[in-house]
Amino acid sequence: TRTLDLAVIPGDGIGPEVIGEALTVMRAAVGESLEVRETHYPLGASHYLATGEILSDDTLAALGQHDAILLGAVGGDPRDPTLAGGIIERGLLLKLRFALDHHVNLRPTRLYPGVSSPLASPGDIDFVVVREGTEGPYVGNGGAIRVGTPHEVANETSVNTAYGVERVVRFAFAEAERRRKKLTLVHKTNVLVHAGSLWQRTVDRVAAEHPEVRVDYLHVDATMIFLVTDPARFDVIVTDNLFGDIVTDLAGAVGGGIGIAASGNLDPSGAHPSMFEPVHGSAPDIAGRGIADPTAAILSAALLLRHTGHPEAAERIERAVEADLASRSGAEARSTEAIGASIAAAVRQYS
Ligand code: NAD
Ligand code: IPM
Ligand code: MN
Repeated sequence: TRTLDLAVIPGDGIGPEVIGEALTVMRAAVGESLEVRETHYPLGASHYLATGEILSDDTLAALGQHDAILLGAVGGDPRDPTLAGGIIERGLLLKLRFALDHHVNLRPTRLYPGVSSPLASPGDIDFVVVREGTEGPYVGNGGAIRVGTPHEVANETSVNTAYGVERVVRFAFAEAERRRKKLTLVHKTNVLVHAGSLWQRTVDRVAAEHPEVRVDYLHVDATMIFLVTDPARFDVIVTDNLFGDIVTDLAGAVGGGIGIAASGNLDPSGAHPSMFEPVHGSAPDIAGRGIADPTAAILSAALLLRHTGHPEAAERIERAVEADLASRSGAEARSTEAIGASIAAAVRQYS
């Protein structure tokens, strides 16, 4: 049998709750054909408060050796002052994305049959956001002076390199070729002119190599309008790190809820393990109650299996999720565990 050397970072809050179910479903989906060797890493806000470690060099090196990483969610309550400044998010999650060169953050949205969208007439929602993952304002090279004085100056700098923009744009065009052949660049070229020009010129240049792909451009603010009024117009959206973060929470919401939105942080070169995680966070408001929806984590596990060369297992999970979602409308709310068990049972039927 083949083996998958999997690193698991359950994280904080609902992270461990949803990851438990994702692993149950994953084991059911691979059956005997694949041996999943799990190594669990107890990283996150709780681990930091207990041990002082956010992410040591040794742990980072060890994580880099796996075939893939499955992550629940990390971070504490945004109102907890001991964790202010996003030390866990930046020191752990973003550090992993940067160190492992996760320059493609792939975030699909699909309104599954039977799932109710908050939109009155959602239409056929099936698009993917290709969010740049290693640049933009996320690099953290801003700075502040005269802090706390009336003359404070606080700068966050968005970094956009020709190399970084081109590689993610190329990935997005390839994705569009595989899909409905439409690509929308989302930016704010009317204000952020330097970065905007680089993104637009890069898209124009790569577009010449993909005559089949229809190319569109939208300002990010107008994108918010169309995600609500006409989300069916989108196929592949390519955008920078920060716009992509914001766009994908709205995408999750219109696609039936943040509890089912999955993502992959990819290094398409394969030089580093890719990392799969729900779009949502640790949800401190519902943590510990066993009511978080594990579907986003389960679909992230499916993305992981597809990316690591196990498309049949991925498909079994996606079919099972689809069946489970279709049965939900009007039914009683179920626990995290009940949803996981029901999807795992459906997966076994397809095996
Ligand atoms: P959040 O996504 O954790 O929660 C937003 C809202 O969505 C909450 O009301 C929550 O209860 C709900 N929700 C989220 N996931 C759900 C699920 N699976 N089922 C049902 N409801 C769900 O966002 P937040 O409150 O802004 O962030 C909480 C913490 O998580 C912060 O520390 C933040 O930095 C961190 N965070 C981490 C990640 C990650 O690890 N990838 C992503 C986003 C936020
Ligand atoms: C996400 C999260 C992260 C991001 C935070 C927690 C750093 O919101 O994965 O969408 O901004 O990328
Ligand atoms: Mn986000």
